[in-house]
Amino acid sequence: MTQEQPTLPILLTGGAGYIGSHTVVALHEAGFKPVILDNFANSHPAVLDRLERILGTRPVLEQGDVLDRPFVEAVLRRHRPAGVIHFAGDKAVGESVAQPLKYFHHNLGGAISLLQAMEAVYLGPQSPGAPTLVFSSSATVYGDPARVPITEDFPRSHTNPYGHTKLVIEDMLTAVKQAQPSWRVGILRYFNPVGSHASGLMGEDPAGIPNNLMPYVTQVAVGQRQQLSVFGSDYATPDGTGVRDYIHVMDLAEGHVAALRTLLERGESFTVNLGTGRGYSVLDVVRAFEQASGRKVPYQLVERRPGDVAQCYADPSLAKKLLGWEAKRSLQDMCVDAWRWQSANPKGYAG
Ligand code: WQD
Repeated sequence: MTQEQPTLPILLTGGAGYIGSHTVVALHEAGFKPVILDNFANSHPAVLDRLERILGTRPVLEQGDVLDRPFVEAVLRRHRPAGVIHFAGDKAVGESVAQPLKYFHHNLGGAISLLQAMEAVYLGPQSPGAPTLVFSSSATVYGDPARVPITEDFPRSHTNPYGHTKLVIEDMLTAVKQAQPSWRVGILRYFNPVGSHASGLMGEDPAGIPNNLMPYVTQVAVGQRQQLSVFGSDYATPDGTGVRDYIHVMDLAEGHVAALRTLLERGESFTVNLGTGRGYSVLDVVRAFEQASGRKVPYQLVERRPGDVAQCYADPSLAKKLLGWEAKRSLQDMCVDAWRWQSANPKGYAG
């Protein structure tokens, strides 16, 4: 009888959010024990019910704010996670321009609180092991890239406070590792996460008017919105509309499992792009979604959105090399799964 592989606890800050909740599923399926830390500021308590239906067991929830350092430290001491995945934070680019201090406080303050709590627990007496962290970064740290596809050595810059916070947290992690080499850190630069778990029980559920393309498209298709505004049709791209690297949220979730395994098994830190390596235009997405859903998506071509770049897509070869991970799901899969979620939940979790 082989010794049962212990189910290692993993703490997910913001684990009830869009990407966090899908990562809970991937971690559970990989034999880990996910523990969710969330204050539901950017997520819905109903996610726990949906996760219970998908997993057959209810994930552990620690309800509270990542900014509350004593709370975070108590959670770390209680669960002694083998690793931590840091999702918690605000992520709307436009809102960050209007409310920069909210973003610096929540995103930078939350990261500092978590890192200080981890330092106290993992570098102190009765440590559960080496401090091991996966950080949710973003392709937004590349600013307006000089060319595509983008590799991890491209220069970083920021065009908005949200992207600035991601860039600063990456630099904080570099400094922490230099000060204490026992830290094991995986920085994941997401491209454009879209889609939903195949069950249709979980998905993207932005508050208010969606900033991002896919949830706006699904809300038009389900009748919540009149029509899509296509921001710009005069970019230097094949059809004039913006080109992005859309990646299925379950591929992204599985990328987090691969990142965690690499840190736990090899102990070397890394920074990688999590994208498919393929760019699709706005009109490509609209056409793919109409085919997947059988619904028309009326749209109008309007002015460019300030701050948008023409093209942004990844060279994902480093993630393949270091993590043995690559995205598997197609744009069609992303659209089919996004539609299954939205058509089954026209008003999201609140509905
Ligand atoms: C995609 C394309 C728009 C909405 C942002 C953040 C990034 C990450 C993902 C957090 C662009 C066009 C969009 C609409 C449109 N978020 N569009 N009409 O801007 O690439 O990235 O979200 O990590 O950090 O910067 O994503 O989905 O907003 O836009 O025409 O109603 O769709 O112009 O070409 P973006 P997006």
